[in-house]
Amino acid sequence: MSDAPRVIAIDGPAGAGKGTLGRSLARHFGFALLETGLLYRATALRVLRDAIDPSDQPAIAKAAKAIEPADLADPDLRTEPVGNMASRVSAYPEVRAALLEYQRNFASHPPGGAKGAILDGRDIGTRICPDADVKLFVTASLEVRALRRLKELRDRGEKAIHGHVLEDMRARDARDTTRALAPLEPAADAFLIDTDGLDADGVFAAALGYVQSRSEVTRSRL
Ligand code: DC
Repeated sequence: MSDAPRVIAIDGPAGAGKGTLGRSLARHFGFALLETGLLYRATALRVLRDAIDPSDQPAIAKAAKAIEPADLADPDLRTEPVGNMASRVSAYPEVRAALLEYQRNFASHPPGGAKGAILDGRDIGTRICPDADVKLFVTASLEVRALRRLKELRDRGEKAIHGHVLEDMRARDARDTTRALAPLEPAADAFLIDTDGLDADGVFAAALGYVQSRSEVTRSRL
């Protein structure tokens, strides 16, 4: 067990701060980071670019299966239309199954010789890595998450309207939490961090404190 890679799972809704936290923890521990939402976004981008019928589940699953690491660097992945399509295609069981192996392989063989992996998403602690060493569930109110997303979009030079971002996020929350397969929910053994009123440093400090307390429990496995 001593040589086994360490896995940190981070789940939570859109705009809760998973990405920022994942990057800080990855830097701190020297772990590889996979934002699993990018896999669903890359699949969605193929649907949009190749004009695949958004209801053609087998065709979309085939596109998902063909995703490679280089696809995850496309700047268009971060746009709202792609995010909304990602939320739609992520409800398809065949698409989720097609992306499972990529995620598990990343966790068991972190790239670049890293000694551990951090995966962030919606179902990492519950389905993808149920045996993760540490599970974090990061959340925040809808209003706070919408404001953060609005700032992120505007900082990137995109035109964004507060009401639209809020409504898109509400619809995305509803889809992500009510879908039949792997809905967004905290694992029973996840540590919950409510990021309303916390800045990125505060979230990192809360997460790091927990990770360190866990690693004492698990005898310095991290
Ligand atoms: O985290 P994100 O906004 O980049 O994710 C885009 C969509 O992908 C999100 O609405 C739901 C889906 N997703 C998922 O179903 N499971 C994951 N592990 C990650 C993302």
